[in-house]
Amino acid sequence: MQRRALLLSPVMSTLDFVELRRGYLPLGAWPLEAPMRRIVHHRLGQPSELLRVEEGPSGPLGRPGLRVAFFPAPGSWRDEVLVPAESVTLLPDAVPDEIGSQLLINTGTALTAVRTAHEAVPADSRADVVVLLTAAGSAVGRLLDKLLTDRGVKVIRLVRSEAGADRLAARLPGSPVFSTDATGWKERARAAANEAKIHVAIDSVGGALLGDVADLLAEGTGTVVNFGTLGGEASDVRLFAPRALTLKGVFLGQWMRQPAEVRKADIALAQRLALVPQPLFEVAARYPPSRIGDAVAHVGRPGRSGMVLFDFSTARGAAR
Ligand SMILES: NC(=O)c1ccc[n+]([C@@H]2O[C@H](COP(=O)([O-])OP(=O)(O)OC[C@H]3O[C@@H](n4cnc5c(N)ncnc54)[C@H](OP(=O)(O)O)[C@@H]3O)[C@@H](O)[C@H]2O)c1
Repeated sequence: MQRRALLLSPVMSTLDFVELRRGYLPLGAWPLEAPMRRIVHHRLGQPSELLRVEEGPSGPLGRPGLRVAFFPAPGSWRDEVLVPAESVTLLPDAVPDEIGSQLLINTGTALTAVRTAHEAVPADSRADVVVLLTAAGSAVGRLLDKLLTDRGVKVIRLVRSEAGADRLAARLPGSPVFSTDATGWKERARAAANEAKIHVAIDSVGGALLGDVADLLAEGTGTVVNFGTLGGEASDVRLFAPRALTLKGVFLGQWMRQPAEVRKADIALAQRLALVPQPLFEVAARYPPSRIGDAVAHVGRPGRSGMVLFDFSTARGAAR
């Protein structure tokens, strides 16, 4: 058992997790008011977290002053928590707290989607692969773009507004980026593929956009790998049957079921990504848990750039 001195936890934009009654909630001994407790239950998903050991038994993970990221760990917002050793990752000094707190959950999700996308590409089409990516400016979207382009894939990034497209292109230049609220975006995306067949889209928006993205995929082989429903609408699957497309859901839980050596390599990759100069792990704001309502509202704010974190090192105070 360790006592934390500092604990950061992303306020997920995974409101859909909870609507689907997925994941477990990190509620512990926090003295939350009843309405507050309801907000937590209804609005938050699984966290990944950062902890600095203040006191506790000495050992590889128990020396005071060490920082560890841990995921998953039920009940992890408690003052005291027992964390399974396999969920704990020692953080190198070079990885800042704000990055360490979001490192595992987002990289694990992105790698799960990348692996599923790879399997979806026909074996004879694995050179010059083109992938469509929705919500490309999101935390997981940025990682997906990086992981895919590093593997030689051409990524066509989609965001929901022109302002978002400009912002993303300025922050992370490279792969083409189109706004889905601009007339003719589908034609522009198609043209960016340079006549290559698009076998895979990675989507976390769903809704009407799922149907639009399906329209751009190769008939018979096209697959949408979906890991979220940011739009909150019922998804449009009308094109899937007549065009013989596949819709495949992925979930971070699959990453936890990877063999230990694969997860170890993935964590090493996550730690390397934590140090790249590109802004892959931005933070928009930190809130104390007493301002949970403001934190959740901030998650839903359009144009937000970066994760919203709970900062358990201050019980009260202003967002910073
Ligand atoms: N399956 C899993 O295991 C798993 C794990 C982690 C996350 N997720 C899911 O992955 C998705 C992304 O999570 P994240 O933490 O990376 O998100 P994030 O960093 O919080 O970013 C979400 C961004 O997506 C954009 N967005 C919001 N609503 C949109 C809409 N209707 N259409 C298009 N873009 C929209 C917004 O950017 P602008 O305001 O700039 O447009 C927003 O900032 C969420 O759906 C989350 O639930 C799933």
